[in-house]
Amino acid sequence: MRIRICRALTVVLALLVMYPVAAPALDNGLARTPPMGWNSWNKFACAGLNEQVIRETADIIASNGMKDAGYEYVNLDDCWQISRDASGNIVPDPSKFPSGIKALADYVHSKGLKIGLYTDVGTNTCAGRPGSAGHEYQDAKQYAAWGIDYVKVDWCHTFPGQNAEASYTLFRDAIAASGRPMVFSICEWGSNKPWLWAGPVGNLSRSTDDIQDCWSCKRTWGGNGVVQIIDLMNNIWMYSGPGHWNDPDMLEVGNGGLTTEEDRAHFSMWALFSAPLLVGTDLSHMSDATKSILLNKEVIAIDQDPLGIQGHRVKKDGDLEVWSKQLANGGRAVVLFNRSASAAPIAVDWTDIGYPDSISATVHDLWSGKTTTDQKGSYSAQVPSHGVVMVTVMP
Ligand code: GLA
Repeated sequence: MRIRICRALTVVLALLVMYPVAAPALDNGLARTPPMGWNSWNKFACAGLNEQVIRETADIIASNGMKDAGYEYVNLDDCWQISRDASGNIVPDPSKFPSGIKALADYVHSKGLKIGLYTDVGTNTCAGRPGSAGHEYQDAKQYAAWGIDYVKVDWCHTFPGQNAEASYTLFRDAIAASGRPMVFSICEWGSNKPWLWAGPVGNLSRSTDDIQDCWSCKRTWGGNGVVQIIDLMNNIWMYSGPGHWNDPDMLEVGNGGLTTEEDRAHFSMWALFSAPLLVGTDLSHMSDATKSILLNKEVIAIDQDPLGIQGHRVKKDGDLEVWSKQLANGGRAVVLFNRSASAAPIAVDWTDIGYPDSISATVHDLWSGKTTTDQKGSYSAQVPSHGVVMVTVMP
């Protein structure tokens, strides 16, 4: 009897080590699938942000097919704010936003889209603008009055030893008290392992330091290339799901630092991760290649799969890897990922993705459109350097 109990406990412990239980997700009814939209930072940074850019971006998203493909949020990042007035109310920069934030929000809403703002739980934002420390409830109330739908909250200029979980919980409660539903995006760069506590606090939490517009380029201050982020994401796949998503940062697709092949790989991997898809490029100068990547509806459907499971690596042979994501329909999305400097064949065996060797499956390539039926045991494809082949496998 005692041996049986011991065995049962060992099995439970082993399962917990293999599949740690994620904290329950924030239940504010939002972000049941990963949020999709656009954010100003990766392209326009501080100096380039103004109301004209936001209006033009909203016009383009509403008319170029992006809205139909699911892109919804138009988000202002750092530098929309400039000071506080005598009552402590946050003041938008009048030189960049002469019409004010309420008028801008009304405009974005008139296009059938939603609008987001950025702040910080420290005294200042990363670009040195006023942060929300001590003004959490006041700011959330103001955002609600303006009609804001999404808030990204950064971690710069916090006090030494400031408790991240407590700070972001305070902000969550401030948003709830404002009475307006707003997607709550936690941005503390993975410094305090948010995947362990941010589930019930925010709708998404940044898992890594800032993305850089490059394939592989770890910066000394912490910035990460696409490949570094991909590796970091693999370790935390079990902590993401409907209502709370791991956030590998905003997309660099179209910003010029990556080749088209690398852009395609970046977008495919973000979709496999169930990552928020926040486009970070200048939509008014988007190439056809960029557009065809950002508008691939089959890849977007993998990102938005209602099961909301983050994909992870199932096989690695040097620079050649197989990644898999379980889908709601029982199929798998599979990315054959080639980090090497030359093209190479990569094979996924059905046993790598949880199917018996004996089954036949339909394999559909999400970038070429090719479909292969009755595929037995495995599927192999030639994968370009720094590129992917992304398929669905349906038994
Ligand atoms: C931090 C964030 C970025 C961006 C900038 C703005 O670096 O991680 O995503 O918001 O601040 O200053």
